[in-house]
Amino acid sequence: MTHDTVITGARVVTASGTTQCDIGITGGKIVTLGTDLKGAEVIDAAGLVALPGGIDSHVHISQPSGPGIEMADDFTSGTRSAACGGNTTVLPFSLPDEGQTLREAVAAYRAKAEGNCLTDVSFHLIVKQTDPVTLGQDLPALIQAGYTSFKVFMTYAGLAVSDRQILDVMAVAKEQNAMVMVHAENEDAIEFLRDKAERDGETGPYHHATTRPVPVEREATHRAISLAEIAGVPLTIVHVSNGEATEEIVRARQRGLTVFAETCPQYITLTAQDLDRDGFDGAKYVCSPPPRTSDEWPKIWSGIEQGAFDLFSSDHCPFRFNDPSGKDAPGARQSFRNIPNGIPGVETRLPILFSEGVVKGRLSFERFAAITATNHAKLYGLFPRKGAIMVGADADITLWDPGLSKPIRQADLNHGSDYTPWEGFEITGWPVRTILRGVTVAKDGAPVSAPIGTHLEREAPDVLF
Ligand code: URP
Ligand code: ZN
Ligand code: ZN
Repeated sequence: MTHDTVITGARVVTASGTTQCDIGITGGKIVTLGTDLKGAEVIDAAGLVALPGGIDSHVHISQPSGPGIEMADDFTSGTRSAACGGNTTVLPFSLPDEGQTLREAVAAYRAKAEGNCLTDVSFHLIVKQTDPVTLGQDLPALIQAGYTSFKVFMTYAGLAVSDRQILDVMAVAKEQNAMVMVHAENEDAIEFLRDKAERDGETGPYHHATTRPVPVEREATHRAISLAEIAGVPLTIVHVSNGEATEEIVRARQRGLTVFAETCPQYITLTAQDLDRDGFDGAKYVCSPPPRTSDEWPKIWSGIEQGAFDLFSSDHCPFRFNDPSGKDAPGARQSFRNIPNGIPGVETRLPILFSEGVVKGRLSFERFAAITATNHAKLYGLFPRKGAIMVGADADITLWDPGLSKPIRQADLNHGSDYTPWEGFEITGWPVRTILRGVTVAKDGAPVSAPIGTHLEREAPDVLF
């Protein structure tokens, strides 16, 4: 049989282990794993590692962020950046704009994405309204239509929901078999600390971190887990930043609860001191939860290595720095309260984990594949179509050069932001070719194809892995 494309010579990381074989691709699917395969196109990948295309299940693209504030990425630049960073699927959030229903929001996001994506996409919902129509009609209908995960917030004015509301939302998740993702920070505690900081004149970007200390996250993590226990649903705690919140998750699992957890590059590489950089530069690092002290890094690493974390995502939430519609928003220099929260990172997530994890000997290739692709596919209803190099799956494959060393440079990145928090960060091991359903979409850090990304409908979460 002659395949459309054959990848030869790579070390291939499959769902079950690592092997040396050819990958035969036809019709956008992996159809053969073997030797001496024939293909109309042959990609010589000698010396490279073939990993499942990255799935970044936590990104924000074109999300409404308040009056006059604009995200730095639309679907063109966001998915271009994702593909150049080794990803083949991203899961952004659908946040209803003022007055919009969940269904209207999803339709608007689908329209914005349609025809513009270099990766496949699927949307998580954000649930901030809990009226009878939302919970009784819209949310169930959307889950049944393949939007099988949604996020609730315990912080941010306008987004935060009460414990009762979280329970009501969880009840729908239980009935409809969907995954609830929780942003766990205690809004009342933050507001108390923020008011005090402002009274004391502590208004610079650094005080974004001091007003969101570890107990704010630890308490909310514990509470979210307890609410899920009461509602009887599995739960995913997103963007966990520190050891104490991780301990809450581990303890819940020891009690037999089904709790999944996600962490991000910022919590193993950045610190609160970055928010204290000269002048207004600290604003570049303002995100929630904030980066902690470097003492927390080994605790997060233990969680990554030992399985407390199932997911390693970017929480890409890009704003421009030198821009009044971004970090330099009106009032942002007067108080950290007005600095848009979030940092860009969809393009650097995989290289940072590959370099710091695999190359430095903390992670196996298989564990890297699990927490950057396979587990995302399972948890969010995309497996076995996505997330693994195996026969029958979409041919979503990233070829890595494990010996290529160069620093992260804003000038080399493809996102819409005007900075990267990791400027100058040394990386060994870069993705050199990203293949989406058999088509090379990015090569050597640059886009090389038309926007062939499609929208993915999803199944129910697989919570048994
Ligand atoms: O600061 C962050 N993480 N912004 C993105 C929104 C969120 O909470 O995930
Ligand atoms: Zn969040
Ligand atoms: Zn986020």
